[in-house]
Amino acid sequence: MTTLDLAVLASGRGSNLRAVLDAIDAGTCDARVSLVASDKPDAPALELAAKRGIPTIVVRPKDHFDRAAWDRALAEAVAGAAPSLVVLAGFMRIVGPAMLAAFPSRIINVHPALLPSFPGAHGPRDALAHGVTVTGCTVHVVDAGVDTGPILAQGVVPVAPGDDESSLHARIQTVEHRLLPGVIDAIARGALVLDPRPRFVAPFDATGTLLSPPVGSPVAR
Ligand code: GRF
Repeated sequence: MTTLDLAVLASGRGSNLRAVLDAIDAGTCDARVSLVASDKPDAPALELAAKRGIPTIVVRPKDHFDRAAWDRALAEAVAGAAPSLVVLAGFMRIVGPAMLAAFPSRIINVHPALLPSFPGAHGPRDALAHGVTVTGCTVHVVDAGVDTGPILAQGVVPVAPGDDESSLHARIQTVEHRLLPGVIDAIARGALVLDPRPRFVAPFDATGTLLSPPVGSPVAR
């Protein structure tokens, strides 16, 4: 059992970052956040991190010659914190080959839909537009595609009558806030191994609650 050193990448509000920090404080997520990185200098997630004394960095695409140069700069900056795991928590950019090479099978993302349905930037909106009756959220390993990497855990959220994008996303986020710290803790405890071949799945129930997996005995798919 190892306390996981995390680098969290966030572009926005940072409610998932907050959920991870709260779970760490509550003793339910065996990790520490060593760095919060963003592509946006005004991301509220940075302020949240700074208030908790966590080092922050900003790596803006516009400060770099092209996407590849930005990706290399991001990889170098994040590697400086030597994280065991990189967590994309509302990071609204696709990480590139330099990041993937620097952290092979060690980058996870939280997405507001039941992948492989509704990848991309508008998961809740797309779910509503398709008239699904259930949606949810997914934590997955990041690969070179857009929300295509191996699925680690999912939580289900029913669509309510009268839901709009904002109300649905808010309910999805309450599940994300349990699922993401739970996955990180499962990785820290060795209950979930981030090796894509074979893939391992943590035993979560449909609400995103971790069902006390036996340590070292992940459920193989
Ligand atoms: C979350 O819904 C996450 O699934 C998506 O971006 C949103 C980030 O929210 N990738 P927050 O910044 O953590 O509040």
